[in-house]
Amino acid sequence: MDDIIIGAVALVAVLLFFLYQKPKTKRYKLPPGPPRLPVIGNLHQLQTTNPQRFFYGWAKKYGPIFSYEIGCKTMVVISSAELAKELLKTQDVNFADRPQHRGHEFMSNGRSDMALNHYTPFYREVRKMGMNHLFSPTRVATFKHVREEEAKRMMDKINKAAEKSEPVDISELMLTFTNSVVCRQAFGKKYNEDGKEMKRFIEILYGSQSVLGKLFFSDFFPFTGYVLDDLTKLTAYMKECYVKQETYVEEIIDETLDPNRVKPETESMVDLLMQIYKDQPFSFEFTINNVKGVIMDIVVAGTDTAAAAVVWGMTYLMKYPQVMKKAQAELREYMAQRGSTFATEDDVKNLPYFRALVKETLRIEPVIPLLIPRACIQDTKVAGYDIPAGTTVNVNAWAVSRDEKYWGPNPDEFRPERFFEKDVDFKGTDYEFIPFGSGRRMCPGMRLGAAMLEVPYANLLLNYNFKLPNGMKPEDINMDVMTGLAMHKSEHLKLVPEKVRK
Ligand code: HEM
Repeated sequence: MDDIIIGAVALVAVLLFFLYQKPKTKRYKLPPGPPRLPVIGNLHQLQTTNPQRFFYGWAKKYGPIFSYEIGCKTMVVISSAELAKELLKTQDVNFADRPQHRGHEFMSNGRSDMALNHYTPFYREVRKMGMNHLFSPTRVATFKHVREEEAKRMMDKINKAAEKSEPVDISELMLTFTNSVVCRQAFGKKYNEDGKEMKRFIEILYGSQSVLGKLFFSDFFPFTGYVLDDLTKLTAYMKECYVKQETYVEEIIDETLDPNRVKPETESMVDLLMQIYKDQPFSFEFTINNVKGVIMDIVVAGTDTAAAAVVWGMTYLMKYPQVMKKAQAELREYMAQRGSTFATEDDVKNLPYFRALVKETLRIEPVIPLLIPRACIQDTKVAGYDIPAGTTVNVNAWAVSRDEKYWGPNPDEFRPERFFEKDVDFKGTDYEFIPFGSGRRMCPGMRLGAAMLEVPYANLLLNYNFKLPNGMKPEDINMDVMTGLAMHKSEHLKLVPEKVRK
């Protein structure tokens, strides 16, 4: 029955589209792209699994800049280092906006946050505050003990499994690690990992993340899109996730305001935001909705990115045992000299091969492979093609980090040594390697994100040897990604740990 209704509404959408459509894109010389169907454009061709690989395929066919359509919207994808530089450096201001997205608007109380806000003077002030306070090197350092403690808790669990030679779910362990770290950094809350509150937090987080990753018909099909969103129950799902998210964040804020509350040992991020709310240091009012929005940015953008990166890294290491051996040897030799079995954030700085491994991990699987979409503010030209104002542009960082002009003939090979041959970093100025983006909208949490992934990653390699379970072979590992803001490996990575020193 649902299908019949959707079909009928889609038909009405088609008719209305033809009635109201003006040939407005005709005068533009748009980037080339696949042929489109009337009304839906290329909607039928899009793949939800592995979109970065799918777009890479289109880039091979249509070039490093191509366009496609969904309903009434033109979308552009950039897939080379040179064009990434054009967009994120030369024309950075013009591409610093975020596109229309019903889910983003709704979940962020009309874009009260930072990550999804339009490129407004208010956004610029909030972002500056973020860079100077929330994500400053000093603040990242104040949470060092939190990350190290949580990494030790993770290893306690692996030790237990190692004693019984049982497989551990690396994906699950890493998500628990990042969830616990984020709750402590952001809210000053130490949840019992398997307790009710942590489960609730995870459910809310996944709900919010999934709404942000959904495609809403209303963004692409005027008039009927809202009806389709309703019929497919997307609107109801979004509202349900919103209510859960709002209730949770409001509770956190109320707790922060409670004069009898036991203060966390380190000022949490929500404490800092509430101080800003009280001080009102901006030329614009910083409202409670802004506090909520920025908190959700930190939680949504900060939680599963680091977890996804370590899981991808361990996956590739299982496929490239010689790289695993080299990284383990460096860590084990260095830590033996230090006389410790726990690699700290300071230790990691002295391990060149491990640092190259982290970069190679983020190159081969940048965890936000299409970055967060940008929107073009004014009509412009890129590579000789017209990009009309309002166009959504994705930079395919996954494709860029396979640009053979910069990475040689075997970009799919997992080889940390390439970072000794080439002095390239992820700080946003080497456009062939942009896992944190670049320019005005570059990830402000880069330092924090790197810190969150390095310690667990290093300690996994230092303390254990790993085997695949049940006679599985490295070539059997499923490499599909699960779409969302951060692209996780869709199948959890399970490995059997063997403790190096018993
Ligand atoms: C390995 C970890 C991480 C990776 C790979 C990563 C990657 C990214 C990328 C690719 C973007 C989009 C940049 C662009 O559009 O050019 C982004 C944006 C953002 N990230 Fe991260 N991120 C990570 C960790 C974090 C953490 C820990 C936080 C906060 C606690 C964070 C907060 C944000 C925010 C707020 C934005 C939006 C910035 C804006 O629109 O101005 N990220 N991140």
